[in-house]
Amino acid sequence: MCNPITRSDDDRARQSGGSERTDTADADVDVADAPPPPDPGGLPVLGNVHELASDALGFYERRSAEYGGIVRYDVFGTESYLVTDPGAIGRILVEDHDRFVKGEMPREQLGGLLGDGLFLAEGEAWREQRTAIRSAFFRERVAAYGDSMVEHAREAVDSWGDGAVVDVHAASTEYAFAVLAESLLGSDIEGERETVRAAAEAITDRFDMSRPTSFLPEWLPTPANRRYRRRLGALRATIRDLVTERRAAGPPADPSAADDLLGTLVAAAKLGALDDEELVDNAVTFLFAGHETSALGLTYALYCLARRPAFQDRIRSEIAPLHGDPTPADLRECPALTAAVDEALRLYPPVHSFFREPTEPIALGEYRIPSGVVLTLAPWSVHRDGRWWNAPETYRPERWLRETEDGGVVHGDDRSGPAVGEHPEHAFFPFGGGPRHCIGMRFARQELRLAVATILRRVRLEPVTEELSLQASANTRPDGPVHVRILTRDEPSDPESLDQDEPSKTSW
Ligand code: HEM
Repeated sequence: MCNPITRSDDDRARQSGGSERTDTADADVDVADAPPPPDPGGLPVLGNVHELASDALGFYERRSAEYGGIVRYDVFGTESYLVTDPGAIGRILVEDHDRFVKGEMPREQLGGLLGDGLFLAEGEAWREQRTAIRSAFFRERVAAYGDSMVEHAREAVDSWGDGAVVDVHAASTEYAFAVLAESLLGSDIEGERETVRAAAEAITDRFDMSRPTSFLPEWLPTPANRRYRRRLGALRATIRDLVTERRAAGPPADPSAADDLLGTLVAAAKLGALDDEELVDNAVTFLFAGHETSALGLTYALYCLARRPAFQDRIRSEIAPLHGDPTPADLRECPALTAAVDEALRLYPPVHSFFREPTEPIALGEYRIPSGVVLTLAPWSVHRDGRWWNAPETYRPERWLRETEDGGVVHGDDRSGPAVGEHPEHAFFPFGGGPRHCIGMRFARQELRLAVATILRRVRLEPVTEELSLQASANTRPDGPVHVRILTRDEPSDPESLDQDEPSKTSW
């Protein structure tokens, strides 16, 4: 079991300039002598499948609350461990990352879709691809997508009339698709929008766990599977054609000189870092990994902000001095906006869990973990753990803000701020961590903040959907529409409805 990290523990870690203490993740424990983690058991053969299928998010939360940071569960005989201890998560993702692989589980689920692209590649092949592709996500390159991010948000908000009730999940999905498809394909998207959209939709449906057909193997010729395969085939053929055209036109010699993601991939292939199939696998990977995740991040940010009119106003006053819509450079001066987005990613992490497999027996904290088992790292339960967060189930962007000595305010993760992270480092990991952290993190955080700012400059949001009902599909997906009322009139917010969740300044 792990002990709560107190403020003073954390202060000591900060003062010594060291990283967070590792809690139960103790690298010095002798593997052979360590006991196995707690095993509350499950049904014969099925293991815990029924609990996962009926409410995976609740299952994760209950298991970690009852049994601590590392606990066993089973899925059809596959030995699995839920890891929710931040120290152990740091060991797996950062300190000892080379003793773990993504493993069989993600490949079984996603291999047919993502092939040997970055998301599933392992070892040297992964390293080579990541090095070749990363220039597409350098600061200047991501900043160059800023105009498109603002433009599409403006189009969306301009289409909403005063008093309209908008499904922000549908609108955010449309928005994230438009931004990603344009960043992926640049001006080529014009002719191919429908193929790409149809494939993106089929991919999302294929992993929609509320549809019983999603549990059937991909090779079964169900109508849904046939549609999925047809659309995916069309997408791959389109990408191949576009690659041929780009090559004919003379691609940039250097991946960092490309102006869209496909250009980076073509240049990386020219340098020998990818073969042609891996190039297509990666284009599909970006579409899969960057579309629904960002859409969900924006959905939850808008839903949460609709319930916090005072915080909407705070963001509005933060962006009011800007000339027009914000640019990526402006975002550095917008701590409240950044806090609003980070807090939504904490409370509703779009990726509720992801997997690793140890390549050798390893001691994690006081426990022995055998090689080849499934380790499930669950941002969902860690982000909602009362040991690391006050009022964990409440949307409180204020928890990310810090006052500086000169009376200014900074975002808590701003390294120049006075109190960097009073929670353990890996108690917040919506984008994973370590060398395999989300390559699109900068892109997504910029996109979400630009979209929220562009929307809030023009309208006020009021809640309509009272409570979110969520399902643990491939991502943390709402069960139905997420409705928000749009008000374009410039009226002050109703003070009665404000600040109910606003904590005192010092509360974390
Ligand atoms: C709010 C939005 C997003 C969230 C919450 C998110 C979350 C994550 C997480 C948790 C991982 C790590 C998975 C693991 O370690 O097993 C990951 C990896 C990845 N993400 Fe994202 N992501 C987001 C947006 C994006 C975008 C916009 C793109 C691309 C444009 C993207 C592309 C990728 C890729 C390619 C990987 C695999 C990286 C590697 O293994 O080297 N993601 N993402």
